[in-house]
Amino acid sequence: MQERLKSLKKIAEERIASAQTMEEVENLRVEFLGKKGDLTKILKEMGKLSSEERPIIGKLGNEVRELITNSVNEKKEAIKVSIMDKKLQLEKIDITMPGKPYKVGKKHIISKMIDEVTEIFMGMGFSIAEGPEIETVRNNFDALNAPKDHPSRDMSDTFYITEDILLRTQTSPVQIRTMEEAVKNNDLPLKIIVPGRCFRSDSPDATHSPMFHQVEVLVVGKDITFTEFKGTMETFVQKLFGPETKTKFRPHNFPFTEPSAEIDVSCFKCGGDGCPVCKGEGWIEILGAGMVHPNVLRNCGIDPDVYSGFAAGMGVERLGMLKYGIDDIRLMFENDVRFLDQF
Ligand code: DAH
Repeated sequence: MQERLKSLKKIAEERIASAQTMEEVENLRVEFLGKKGDLTKILKEMGKLSSEERPIIGKLGNEVRELITNSVNEKKEAIKVSIMDKKLQLEKIDITMPGKPYKVGKKHIISKMIDEVTEIFMGMGFSIAEGPEIETVRNNFDALNAPKDHPSRDMSDTFYITEDILLRTQTSPVQIRTMEEAVKNNDLPLKIIVPGRCFRSDSPDATHSPMFHQVEVLVVGKDITFTEFKGTMETFVQKLFGPETKTKFRPHNFPFTEPSAEIDVSCFKCGGDGCPVCKGEGWIEILGAGMVHPNVLRNCGIDPDVYSGFAAGMGVERLGMLKYGIDDIRLMFENDVRFLDQF
């Protein structure tokens, strides 16, 4: 029996050593050590042995079981490692391969224009304020000193939600919100710009869109004069269109400013000689502005005898169209990538 056990051990070790897969090793384990396995078979015959022989064979049997168990476990471990090695080999990343091109979008021309305007004003110490696109008639018109019969208040010009609520037609109502907030928090003077979306009931054509963007400018303080107003606007215009650009303050009328002006800039294309961009005029109108009307200050709880200010509002699409020579505002909203990709 000793001989049979020794030879079983030898055969088992050889066969386990040459096994290739987990399954083979497991089958061998069952074949040698299982309930009906070879080792069990041999040991079952121990009953026939003499009482001197039995402990010796028993001990040898246990040793053989342990040795085969160890071989099985070692082999399983070795197969596991080699499977992992193969997998790592296969999955090796070649870092010298060219990457897959990754299409990154770019900023929309309107966002770019807003960024450009914002950056110029931030450089002059302005901060950014925002307000809701759904506004009260009071903030959009009344508090801004618009008379009850002002044409812009007409049902056909403005998207009313109720009699008192509308889609703001301009960013100017944020003037009211900001001034009232500043009074409440004792936070005057103020110097803000307000980029934002506006809505008017216009049929779309080359120069009109029912949804468009404005940037509002507002400065309120104790010694704000027309000189600061002029200097600030001139600096802005020269930063946006170039240092050679000249400005012209043309008298105009807005309910919320007095005096009011439309600001023209010398044509940045022809320098003022006249060309298709400026329609032969040499000048291009770019924004509305003026000194804040005393009534507007009063409406916000600010004493016009102590405080004064200036304000301006510009159309972002118009600035972009001028700057990039775009002849139809609708192109900006059609989202044709071939168009948008150019800016
Ligand atoms: N809100 C005016 C508009 O939509 C633009 C404007 C003009 C804004 C003069 C101002 C301003 O703040 O002072 O036509």
